[in-house]
Amino acid sequence: MNESKLRVLFVASEAYPLVKTGGLGDVSYSLPNALRGLDIDIRLLLPGYPAILKRLALIEVHENINLYPLKTPVRILAGTMPGEITPVYVIDCPYLYDRDGGPYQDDDGIEWSDNALRFGMLSKVAALFGSHHLLFKPDIVHCNDWQVGLAPAFSSFNTIDTAKTIMSVHNMAYQGIFGPEVIELFGLPPESFSMFGLEYHGKVSFLKAGLFYSDWITTVSPNYAKDIQTTNYGCGLNGLLSEHQHKLTGIVNGIDTNAWNPETDEFINRNYNVDSLLIKVRNSQDLRNKLKLAPSKQSPIIGMITRLTEQKGIDLVVPIIPDLIKEGVQLAILGSGDRKLEKSLQELASLYPKQISVTIGYDEELAHQIEAGANLFLMPSKFEPCGLNQMYSMHYGTLPIVRNTGGLADTVVDATPDNIQNKIATGFIFENEDSEELLTCIKRALRIFNHDKTSWRQLQVTAMNRDFSWEKSAKQYVSLYRQLLN
Ligand code: ADP
Ligand code: GLC
Repeated sequence: MNESKLRVLFVASEAYPLVKTGGLGDVSYSLPNALRGLDIDIRLLLPGYPAILKRLALIEVHENINLYPLKTPVRILAGTMPGEITPVYVIDCPYLYDRDGGPYQDDDGIEWSDNALRFGMLSKVAALFGSHHLLFKPDIVHCNDWQVGLAPAFSSFNTIDTAKTIMSVHNMAYQGIFGPEVIELFGLPPESFSMFGLEYHGKVSFLKAGLFYSDWITTVSPNYAKDIQTTNYGCGLNGLLSEHQHKLTGIVNGIDTNAWNPETDEFINRNYNVDSLLIKVRNSQDLRNKLKLAPSKQSPIIGMITRLTEQKGIDLVVPIIPDLIKEGVQLAILGSGDRKLEKSLQELASLYPKQISVTIGYDEELAHQIEAGANLFLMPSKFEPCGLNQMYSMHYGTLPIVRNTGGLADTVVDATPDNIQNKIATGFIFENEDSEELLTCIKRALRIFNHDKTSWRQLQVTAMNRDFSWEKSAKQYVSLYRQLLN
């Protein structure tokens, strides 16, 4: 190892292609890759879920680490990310991680009751890397989301020299709030249970701990960095974030342009690029066939791929479905999550089986096929820290319809007449959480799709030519790492 390289431990609760429930998984894979390309010695630390232990060829590198309050020692295993050179450390602790179900919930969608312990231990091991240099001496411990929020707290209570910590917030809505017994459980100093610490309305907030004790906070778009300092989007922590704005930066996510590239995408039948957009039409036919939608040469297909949660604004879409059907639109929806939302979408699909397809579940292949086959992509989110699908869509010439919030506003340029004329428009933006406004925006998009093929093509070309790769943002992380160490 080159000693002069900057060393970073990137800690997350999920990473594509091992375990992914949303965009955090994508980022945990593609950002470290991009940083390695910039000569950063970055390594991942992940919990030892069964999917990770099965998929990776791992060797034991540390055994018998006794970690209070666990009664049995944990092991650290090491391997490399599939198809990549990024080293990954895995915490092997069957008691915490070896179970069927998802990383955060069981198969019925119920949160694991011992999540405080499961992710408190992930945080503890992360902090241990930073202080005791288990196998690798990171200069920076880069923590992601509430699951790693306690790591900056553990680090800051260490009396010995520890690595700097960064807390990256991918979503303020998930905070990891647990009872006050967590203080004793982890032997945290009682004085930390205060407003100026990790206490939040009489409970312990993992996210607040991360925000409060870290050396720096980042979030995943500049606009969201502003949003979260307001009552509307700060989820109760806006005051803290405003006070700490001197250590808060918004860095927009990039996308993995190898995995998401219509020219080479292995999940789609017909590859295309900006010069062969006619081929995209055949991907639309394939999608209609696969989803059993009515055959058609001109019906626009609107795609949606999403976690089904309140955040994503599904409730704005449901009331306007009959209007969309009247407009001749077909909808290809893929998602899972909230059982009620799943049910209401399925009911719509059974009402209009030839116009609406709803696939409940997680399906990587279909996600790529929808990006390639749809004409428009819908993300009417109530809030959106960054959002990746709107960028995948633009890269595939599938124009996004988004609400003017967070990272959506940072990455999509609205098709106003001026922006079309200046050749900078890449999608369609509406302002308020309002179904009627959404419908008006969709109709605006459909008018161009149906009646102004030249502008439509121009929009597609502009969107596809935009650079959404990680390079620029990864360089911002490198500057931040260096700034922290100076
Ligand atoms: P979030 O992280 O809030 O869910 P993002 O847009 O940042 O939103 O990222 C979502 C990621 O998860 C994208 O890669 C998207 O394709 C993927 N995804 C979400 N739901 C599904 C699903 N049901 N099947 C396949 N991929 C999905
Ligand atoms: C979160 C956000 C999403 C963001 C992703 C990756 O899950 O909801 O907007 O793109 O994290 O940072």
